[in-house]
Amino acid sequence: MTALDVTTSLQEEIRALARERNAVILAHNYQRPEVQDVADFVGDSLGLSRQAAATEADVIVFCGVHFMAETAAILSPEKTVLLPDLDAGCSLAASITAEQLREWKAQHSGAVVVSYVNTTAEVKAESDYCCTSGNAREVIESIPADREILFLPDLYLGLWLERVTGRKLTIWLGECHVHAGIRPTDIERWTRETPDAELLVHPECGCASQAMAFANGRTHILSTEQMVNFARRSEKRRFVVATESGILHRLQKEVPGKRFEPVRDDAVCRYMKLTTLEKVRDSLLHEQHRVEVEPELAERARLAIERMVAIGG
Ligand code: 13P
Ligand code: SF4
Repeated sequence: MTALDVTTSLQEEIRALARERNAVILAHNYQRPEVQDVADFVGDSLGLSRQAAATEADVIVFCGVHFMAETAAILSPEKTVLLPDLDAGCSLAASITAEQLREWKAQHSGAVVVSYVNTTAEVKAESDYCCTSGNAREVIESIPADREILFLPDLYLGLWLERVTGRKLTIWLGECHVHAGIRPTDIERWTRETPDAELLVHPECGCASQAMAFANGRTHILSTEQMVNFARRSEKRRFVVATESGILHRLQKEVPGKRFEPVRDDAVCRYMKLTTLEKVRDSLLHEQHRVEVEPELAERARLAIERMVAIGG
């Protein structure tokens, strides 16, 4: 059997198992191409949360990272939520604990807490609102202008939000190691060398807020889903992409005939790549690994997440 035959046969086995178990397979835009191709739905954090909240399936196989499966478990407590590899963590979510957040809140009494979705359930339970890159701006704008906002945990997303909303935020100094590695010099180089390309930049990037300074009409700060929509609608043919490399598969597949290039070849999230077809198959076969959130904790985290699912995007 060729490697392609093995992939196809695993995908067929997974589809059959998913039908048998009444399971829906959700995959984030950063997943491996062959995992994206076997999923029922591929999207960004906001789209996947909305799918998880709305699905009628009994089982959700989450091809993504731990906080995403946890969010799905909070939104759909009656469903079985499976994460094919429990080691699929997130360096950004690991950058703040609930204890640290409680201390921070104590220093800023009365402030509204807005947490990026890349956080643990314990941190969400201490938050007033959650947001994703797809609706962060709308979430900030929905909060009365006279309230102090504690924004966490992503420094670069926070700086970008300050620029686009014109509001001063109190920002936690966390970062995603993949996006922080994309620097302003990478964007400057591409801006110089590819005058015919549009630059699609994720707001978690270490260059996001500065990239706006180069704003020359062809730099666009977008969530991963917004990148796909933008490229689809644009009349331009060439795009340089500043985010995790998994999105390139989706762009090439759904926007054929256009050229997509990564701003850096090493923008790869090792956690997102832990999910393989074999692990997705085993997850369905053995109902592993179940992600559950203790009811009292889920209850405290739910309002912030439901606000996220309801606002904008
Ligand atoms: P989005 O897909 O929501 O833009 O998030 C990016 C990300 O880093 C998720 O881990
Ligand atoms: Fe977390 Fe960054 Fe990986 Fe996204 S790309 S899952 S933010 S470590």
